Amino acid sequence: MEARAEVETPRERAARPDRNLAMELVRTTEYAALACARWIGRGDKEGADAAAVDAMRLLLDTVSMDGVVVIGEGEKDEAPMLYNGEHIGDGSPPAVDIAVDPLEGTELCAKGLPNAIATIALAERGAMFDPGPCVYMLKMATSRDMAHLLDLDRPLADTLKLMAREKGAPVGDLVVIMLDRPRHEDYMKEIRDVGARIRLIPHGDVSAALVAVTEGSPVDLLYGIGGTPEGVLAAAAIQCTGGQILGRLWPRSDEERQAALDAGYDLDEVLDKDRLVSGRDVFFAATGVTDGEMLDGVTFIGPGATTESISMRSRSGTVRRITARHDRAKLREITGERLG
Ligand code: FBP
Repeated sequence: MEARAEVETPRERAARPDRNLAMELVRTTEYAALACARWIGRGDKEGADAAAVDAMRLLLDTVSMDGVVVIGEGEKDEAPMLYNGEHIGDGSPPAVDIAVDPLEGTELCAKGLPNAIATIALAERGAMFDPGPCVYMLKMATSRDMAHLLDLDRPLADTLKLMAREKGAPVGDLVVIMLDRPRHEDYMKEIRDVGARIRLIPHGDVSAALVAVTEGSPVDLLYGIGGTPEGVLAAAAIQCTGGQILGRLWPRSDEERQAALDAGYDLDEVLDKDRLVSGRDVFFAATGVTDGEMLDGVTFIGPGATTESISMRSRSGTVRRITARHDRAKLREITGERLG
């Protein structure tokens, strides 16, 4: 029998599926979730966040990549690890941008409330929007079938009417998910006046965006002002699942507005998912910390623990749901006392 040629042509190489980093990233979110789960309900959001950051940082070092943190825990002086600009990985290809939120919903975790997650996203180098001094943005997100109706300049009530018509349902069937904040009072009135319903959440608009973009979920739209980093993370997930997010930077003060203008930001620009995270290869992973609508939280059972995660890649569009059982004693042997 003739031996099969071992040499791959360039065309074969291009067509070959390469490494799915999202699979490796799940280990980092699982470990962050396991570490901060010891802090659930202990009323200490800083302690919970530090545990998640420390654990994620440890595992990130095992991923072969040349990564730069674009969305991290803040500036180097305040954040000893996972600070913006920090280089991560062993320096080998691929060159990637990294967005991390090792504990998204610190207060949810501290109070034992639903929907705290550990999350991370990767994209090609230069693909992620750097929000600079802008902490908040106005965001709206919805599923693929309604995406064409999103418009930050049209009155919200009109958009809701269009969404209801598209759905073939009364406006009263629509549910908008929104952070419960005084800054949203006018939006709440507008939504309620047109007859739609609101689900107010205390924190966690990455999970909220994921629920809003999931077709067939009980939530039709995410709307409101939330963190810009969370907007970039949500956009990475939406690049994989489909759907759309639109954002516009929302400076909190005149100083922040001026700082953004001085840094060259266009405060009128509408940032869609391609502007927030561009590129062909986007990876997203998240693990539940507390139980939530998208993911179950960490459960400790005897000497073990279980986690539930999602892992996604934009190029293939594959969304994996991964449940894992962990042996805490064995993990401690490898990683020290982080798991409590
Ligand atoms: P943390 O995990 O950093 O505490 O953020 C939680 C969060 O609720 C985000 O989901 C959201 O985008 C942002 O905070 C809203 O900010 P604020 O609480 O200042 O309104």
